[in-house]
Amino acid sequence: MKSKLSHIGQSVFARMTALANEHQAINLAQGFPNFNPPLELIEYFYEGLKNGMNQYAPMPGYLPLRQQISKRLLHRYNKIIDPEKEITITTGATQAIYSIISALISPGDKTLILEPAYDSYGPSVLVNSGIPIYVRMDEPLFDIPWEGIKNALKNHDIKLMIINNPHNPTGRIWTKNDYQTLYDITKDKDILFIFDEVYDAMVYDEHTHISALEIPEFWSNSYVCFSFGKTFHTTGWKIAYTVAPEMLSTELRKLHQFTVFSVNTPGQYASAKFMESNPNFINELSSFYEQKRNYFLSGLVKTKFKPLKCEGSYFVLAQHQECLDDEDFCKKMVLEKKVAAIPISAFYHDSYDPKIIRFCFAKNDETLAQANENLLN
Ligand SMILES: Cc1ncc(COP(=O)(O)O)c(C=O)c1O
Repeated sequence: MKSKLSHIGQSVFARMTALANEHQAINLAQGFPNFNPPLELIEYFYEGLKNGMNQYAPMPGYLPLRQQISKRLLHRYNKIIDPEKEITITTGATQAIYSIISALISPGDKTLILEPAYDSYGPSVLVNSGIPIYVRMDEPLFDIPWEGIKNALKNHDIKLMIINNPHNPTGRIWTKNDYQTLYDITKDKDILFIFDEVYDAMVYDEHTHISALEIPEFWSNSYVCFSFGKTFHTTGWKIAYTVAPEMLSTELRKLHQFTVFSVNTPGQYASAKFMESNPNFINELSSFYEQKRNYFLSGLVKTKFKPLKCEGSYFVLAQHQECLDDEDFCKKMVLEKKVAAIPISAFYHDSYDPKIIRFCFAKNDETLAQANENLLN
């Protein structure tokens, strides 16, 4: 059989986690918390299980959850969103992004992706016979590569553009000016956008997250994707939501109904109840993770690594000095320092290796302290 994705094997995320487990290393590789979600959220899940929330939820999502989301978006981003027509609950943001791409991209259609990039974007385009057009953000600052984007727009007929803000793995965030520049250079073209904002509630220091939902110019041609996995510490529940105007939501739902159809019901019930009873939980996430970022960085700066700026997300990048390629370097670190990280070559389609690795600091303080101690020695 000829594979449609012959160049793709097991992801480095799975390989590094397996290696970490094999060597009892601290796993700062994969992006998930090593602590539990709030007990109240878990209790609502159990309440749902006991009270008949065990069958298919409606295809676009459990309505009370969509209503809670709409309330949050109004409060947080000052955007009126119709919960019936403009919010779709998905099995994680990864599925939302895949389904949107499948719904929009025909063979030969081009999608602009900024690299380093979340690893699902490229393969999702390729499996739909689309063509990813990659534009690299330059290290170590990872500013938005406007010249590269302009060139790509000049040389290619771009149908879709994927923007991730706050950005995994660099932790960079978008300003209002950035959106304005993007609008200025794309307004005369017929381009659709996916704004991947799964880390919207994790932005640090003097910054606040600016969502694409706050920029009226982008509304009519954009999907904006969020994830409860990140905000409720429940990556394993795989519950996320995508916001888009009715016409675009309808296109997403056409795919969603024949692939996933419906997302786990007790998880949606629990998320709705929790949002209702704890509307502030999400608002407090930035200070929760800022403390973890600062704690981890305070140790990391004493090691041989040079940490880079982290404005948002729960990742921090660090430069290393060794001559090894970055995956070999990460393997060596597991064996010798008992700490696992992700080589950022994993975020480039051509395995570009800028000698930078990614640490996830969504871990309890004891784990972060132990990791720092290991890295110091
Ligand atoms: C940028 C980005 N987008 C999407 C996702 C996937 O989110 P979910 O777990 O909801 O599928 C992740 C998870 O790591 C991510 O980092």
